[in-house]
Amino acid sequence: MTFPEPLLRALRNARKVAALTGAGVSAESGVPTFRNAQTGLWAQFKPEELATPGAFLKNPRLVWEWYEWRRQLVQNAKPNPAHFALAEMENKFPGFTLITQNVDGLHQRAGSRKVIEIHGNITRTKCFQEDTVVTQWNETGEVPPKCPRCGGLLRPDVVWFEEALPEIPTEAAFAASRDCDVFLCIGTSAVVYPAASLPLEALQHQATVIEINPEVTPLTSRASYVLNGPAGEILPGLLTEVTRA
Ligand code: OAD
Repeated sequence: MTFPEPLLRALRNARKVAALTGAGVSAESGVPTFRNAQTGLWAQFKPEELATPGAFLKNPRLVWEWYEWRRQLVQNAKPNPAHFALAEMENKFPGFTLITQNVDGLHQRAGSRKVIEIHGNITRTKCFQEDTVVTQWNETGEVPPKCPRCGGLLRPDVVWFEEALPEIPTEAAFAASRDCDVFLCIGTSAVVYPAASLPLEALQHQATVIEINPEVTPLTSRASYVLNGPAGEILPGLLTEVTRA
């Protein structure tokens, strides 16, 4: 792919760069996205039956086991060239902030050191009752296991529908979006708020917004540039071009 010269210039001259990633970034690692018409998780499962506090209270075992299945899937997946390119950007771009909606930890496994996770992380567990992270518990065979402190049910440390986003990462994500010169919006359908307002926030503050996605999204018509294609191909190429001497 050849990149427009003004886009490359914007990245080369940027004082601060922010990137927001979504499930599309992990698609090439074999992790299913949420909204793909055939393979997306929400095409096969109902969010209200699996990803709400009410669903968990109604059927904690089903929800725990569904996340256990996704945890295994993610553990067996490997970071792809998109994750590696983003990890490299942290070293090569000044003031680089990576914000992700993904809960799979693949950015960290690719070498990204600073990742703002606004939807939590599937490898972490917390107590439903106390809302605090739990790292050890007794394996009694109960599903889900119980909190060793209060006996409450344990759950994955991810954000469910109807839940608020974690305050500190979300504030950091908004601050980085307001403050950047270039904002990369990669592999997200840009329909889930408040994450979807981050590129809009960047636009409002005169940043150059670059969308990378093989499909059209509600952001497409508003983005400064649209790079149409898979992130695993576009990001490494973009990095090479921008850092070319
Ligand atoms: P979606 O499944 O909604 O969107 C994935 C996007 O990735 C789509 O726009 C695809 O076109 C695009 N895509 C697919 N393959 C790609 C590739 N190889 N390279 C680049 N893009 C590709 O996933 P998200 O936008 O991440 O929230 O969904 C947002 C939130 O909705 C998730 O974090 C999750 C879900 O409900 C919670 O669990 C709170």
